[in-house]
Amino acid sequence: MSDLFKGCEKCSGGYIRIDDGKRAVECVCLRRKKLEASLREANVYESFWSHLRLDIPTPVKSPEQGAMRRMTAEFVNNLKHNVTSGNGLFLTGEAKGTGKTTHLLIILKAAIEAGYPAHNAAWPDLIRWMISDKEEIDRMRDVRMLMIDEIGNDGIRAESEFPQTTFDYVLRHRMARGLPTLMGSNLSPLEFDSRYPGIKSLLSKRIPVFYVKGVDWRQL
Ligand SMILES: Nc1ncnc2c1ncn2[C@@H]1O[C@H](COP(=O)(O)OP(=O)(O)OP(=O)(O)O)[C@@H](O)[C@H]1O
Ligand SMILES: [Mg+2]
Ligand SMILES: [Zn+2]
Repeated sequence: MSDLFKGCEKCSGGYIRIDDGKRAVECVCLRRKKLEASLREANVYESFWSHLRLDIPTPVKSPEQGAMRRMTAEFVNNLKHNVTSGNGLFLTGEAKGTGKTTHLLIILKAAIEAGYPAHNAAWPDLIRWMISDKEEIDRMRDVRMLMIDEIGNDGIRAESEFPQTTFDYVLRHRMARGLPTLMGSNLSPLEFDSRYPGIKSLLSKRIPVFYVKGVDWRQL
């Protein structure tokens, strides 16, 4: 946190003095600033910040998008249990712009707010780190909550072993340690199975797979 933070009109440098100036408490502006720093650090894209809330109404939704929202709410309501049990969620579907990334980020943000170390990683980056950045891939392997988005967008030839190796190194390890993982993909469940054989069974009950169909919010 920068020493230069001035705070708002209600505080001084982010602190409000109480008890005749003997004690100081954090102002909401400082708490917001800290949360923003954590979101940035966790690679939660800034363009999503304003709608990472379950109480924002969606313009139109399919039954699947409604179910996705309910599952997200349920996950967040039981966050502590889910994190300590290593439970995750896999939102997948070939329909674009249905809110998969948004809903996974809502969960990730809730974890960050609850103080759990968390990170959002794009699948192509994970593969790149698997190939050439041991430190970074190991950090992803062991972070308390990991979100892997854009699974399938690796541009890597189907016969390449790197995706499978990355799943084995990161996900198998996380499952064994009981670390929660959120996953997002633009593949249909069938396509996911044929691209990454054996991974669905690795997910077991701890990472339920939900096939998201519905309305593209970007087109509204
Ligand atoms: N509650 C909302 N109301 C309106 N638009 C929203 C809402 N939540 C998210 N959006 C916008 O809808 C768009 C699609 O959402 P999102 O990126 O989560 O979908 P996605 O399923 O991950 O898409 P893709 O298939 O391209 O990965 C985003 O640009 C996002 O800014
Ligand atoms: Mg997405
Ligand atoms: Zn303030």
